[in-house]
Amino acid sequence: MSLTILAFMGSPRIKGLCSQFAASALQGAASRGAEVHQINLVDCDIKHCTGCHSCVYTKHELPIGMCPLKDDMAGILEQYLAADGYVMACPVYDFTVTSIMKAFIERRFPMYKKQKGLHGKIPEVRVPQGFKKKAVLIATGDASDEYAAIAEPCFDVMSGHFMVEEIDVVSQLYVGYIHNVDEQRYKEKMQEIFTMGVRMVEEIEKARL
Ligand SMILES: Cc1cc2nc3c(=O)[nH]c(=O)nc-3n(C[C@H](O)[C@H](O)[C@H](O)COP(=O)(O)O)c2cc1C
Repeated sequence: MSLTILAFMGSPRIKGLCSQFAASALQGAASRGAEVHQINLVDCDIKHCTGCHSCVYTKHELPIGMCPLKDDMAGILEQYLAADGYVMACPVYDFTVTSIMKAFIERRFPMYKKQKGLHGKIPEVRVPQGFKKKAVLIATGDASDEYAAIAEPCFDVMSGHFMVEEIDVVSQLYVGYIHNVDEQRYKEKMQEIFTMGVRMVEEIEKARL
């Protein structure tokens, strides 16, 4: 059975470079036989988490908790849980991920369960993945590559849930000076990111031998 790789793309510009890079990682994965799908988060109806905690406090027997908000997130989380690998791609906005990406990440809370009244601990994940699933992270920004450290908060935010869910981040790349990418650098980065997609599938296959 072929693997499924999902890309979650957090730029409002669905034809921008961040989106093209996400697509290139998916093409790399597809070249290794994976089924691939890019979710442009800006096109999804994702409401802000209201902080009610009901998704984590109730129905602990379910693989995904129940969120009272009615929007696209329930369907996205089903796809998320069924997938084998992930591409997270986001521009740096104000030193971190875009609000589009952040809203999506916060709404991944139903992947956890928590005893009411038990505070001070990282929530338990409903379905630990045992490092059989993998992820790659891509960030783009106006600051040139020598300031790549500015993307660290993006990588931290995009990888936090993976750490708790036992999903390995196998590679991450910051592409800076994004509004001045010439043809040669564009080709190099597209190829580098394509290879990240290839390697992710190889790592998933290795983990499942
Ligand atoms: C509101 C806003 C905030 C931004 N903040 C940063 C920033 O803190 N650091 C940075 O390097 N680039 C910043 N940028 C530039 C974006 O990262 C850049 O436009 C984006 O990566 C381009 O990718 P895209 O066209 O594929 O969306 C910002 C852009 C906008 C619109």
